[in-house]
Amino acid sequence: MPDIESLLKEKRVFEPPKEFAKRAKWSKREFTALRKLGEKSPERFWAQMAKRHVSWFKPWRKVLEWKAPYAKWFVGAQTNVSYNCLDRHLENGRRNKAALIWEGEPGDSRVLTYGQLHREVCKFANVLKGLGVAKGDRVALYMPLVPEAVIAMLACTRIGAPHSVVFGGFSAESLRDRINDAGAKVVITADGGHRRGSAFALKPAVDEAVAGCPGVESVVVVQRTRQDTAMKPGRDHWWHALMATVSADCPPAKLDAEHPLFILYTSGTTGQPKGILHTTGGYLTHVAATTQAIFDLGDDDVYWCTADVGWITGHSYVVYGPLANGATVLLYEGVPTHPGPDRWWSLIEKYGVTVLYTAPTAIRTFIRLGDEHPNRHDLSSLRLLGSVGEPINPEAWMWYHRVIGGKRCPIVDTWWQTETGGIMITPLPGAVPTKPGSATLPFPGIDAAVLDADGKEVKPRAGGFLAVRKPWPGMLRGIWGDAKRYEQTYWSKWKKPTYFPGDGAHRDDKGYFWILGRIDDVMNISGHRIGTMEVESAIVSHEQVAEAAVVGRPDEITGTAIVAFVTPRSGTAAGAALVEELRGHVAKHIGAIAKPADIRFTDALPKTRSGKIMRRLLRDIAAGKETVGDTTTLEDYSVLAKLRESEE
Ligand code: WTA
Repeated sequence: MPDIESLLKEKRVFEPPKEFAKRAKWSKREFTALRKLGEKSPERFWAQMAKRHVSWFKPWRKVLEWKAPYAKWFVGAQTNVSYNCLDRHLENGRRNKAALIWEGEPGDSRVLTYGQLHREVCKFANVLKGLGVAKGDRVALYMPLVPEAVIAMLACTRIGAPHSVVFGGFSAESLRDRINDAGAKVVITADGGHRRGSAFALKPAVDEAVAGCPGVESVVVVQRTRQDTAMKPGRDHWWHALMATVSADCPPAKLDAEHPLFILYTSGTTGQPKGILHTTGGYLTHVAATTQAIFDLGDDDVYWCTADVGWITGHSYVVYGPLANGATVLLYEGVPTHPGPDRWWSLIEKYGVTVLYTAPTAIRTFIRLGDEHPNRHDLSSLRLLGSVGEPINPEAWMWYHRVIGGKRCPIVDTWWQTETGGIMITPLPGAVPTKPGSATLPFPGIDAAVLDADGKEVKPRAGGFLAVRKPWPGMLRGIWGDAKRYEQTYWSKWKKPTYFPGDGAHRDDKGYFWILGRIDDVMNISGHRIGTMEVESAIVSHEQVAEAAVVGRPDEITGTAIVAFVTPRSGTAAGAALVEELRGHVAKHIGAIAKPADIRFTDALPKTRSGKIMRRLLRDIAAGKETVGDTTTLEDYSVLAKLRESEE
């Protein structure tokens, strides 16, 4: 993980390649002009973006209504996201252009043109209507990465039913909580999916979850793996059976710009995930404009963002941003290493991918696997690379540049969050010189800063809190059902209404942003957010556990790894068996992504006199900065804690 010291030593600068800059959709001149406009009047800048990138059924009366911390963008306007992602492309000559190129892990593939995707979306929108889904009703998705996931999302937007996509790696319990919190009426899933060379099942988890969801009326099941799947009569329906019964005619609903578009759950500092709410017109404006500006997409591109649709990156930069731009999007179902460590590179070669957007964890994994795998493939179609989800260390950035980008592709390191909806801090590939490890500059119209505890901007090179001082169109509109938590989590850090993302950062002499990572009790594991409290409450719910504290430690591949310090109940044998048991327990409660890498047993957790767990000390121990013994034997940190306390 980068720290300020090492980042301050990073002096390399890469100018936008001349050829790229010449043809870039956003030239340096345009960027400079728009940046100025964005500084002078963010509202005028975003209004211009809204006109350029979104088709509206009805214009707005007012660009922004800001009653901090609540924003309404494009007040009075009407539009529809699926219309913008589909119908308008049929009107402008892209009917037979590939919208989705999908490849399954076993090697099967499908291509859907804009015309075909439109037809499927209209049909599935009619299926939803037939199941009683009306405007405003919530629909939950729990799916593998198959075209039906995209179809279902777009169908929801067509009729104004907010979707809540739950990543397929989350457990039945997590799914149940998210379905209930959103009050979803319909769940869309699949029999299973393919991963690491075998078929996994999804439907049993849905059955288990829905048993505890009184509000769910129907479950729609895509047939993907054809494994044996129990179907509950009256409640469960096969996707293909329903699709055979409906018409392909479904006009897009004319929706208010502030109509809820989707809810996406993300971890926070409590045990309970937050349902981040996004709405229609502002979100679409933000993702459509940033996609064009940052990924420079044109009709010749094959764009591949490797995120799953279960995460915000999958929403904004697999589905909505690229499709709003009429791009060709590659989707790949499986893991990067099946059947061999070169699967991604063979996909890039096979489909002629031109733009690749992925996460530092993946890049670091490939570095470890060895250069011979990408080197075996012709990657010369690539012209632009992107990174998202965690700070990228300069070494990984350089490897990405050299081995994957052949030294010719600009790299866009994009900082943003589930809450921000779209990219906030990023280079524009044809306009902004890049530095390995820096997300560079705010997107035009975004007022980002690094502040101290009093809300004053810190000096160059000094660390501080990342902040956004003015509202932007893709910003979250709230936490589903919890206004207070929204206000407290994001808007209460400073006196003036200012958005606090939970990250630390510093700026260099040129004003470039260097993001240092989370500074709250949220960990970033392989680019995925997991709350320490979530993992703690899962562990303490085990009958053999008395107490637990969870912290992150630096990890070479995943950025951060989860470490749990556990005090077993007396009489419990603390050993390897309990370690495995607890890891399984966490997977069952949250999902496999939240399994601790290390579990360390201790007689007592180090606490202050007032009884607060000394997390900083635990973080040091977890990172190996304090010498302690074997990881699975009982340790007594109380002495260490006392020593520490007397120092403070
Ligand atoms: C981190 C993912 C450094 C950050 C889009 C943020 C980054 C969290 C970057 C959001 C980046 C994301 N450089 N850190 N380019 N991009 N992060 O909600 O800590 O899954 O707060 O959204 O990821 O994670 P989320």
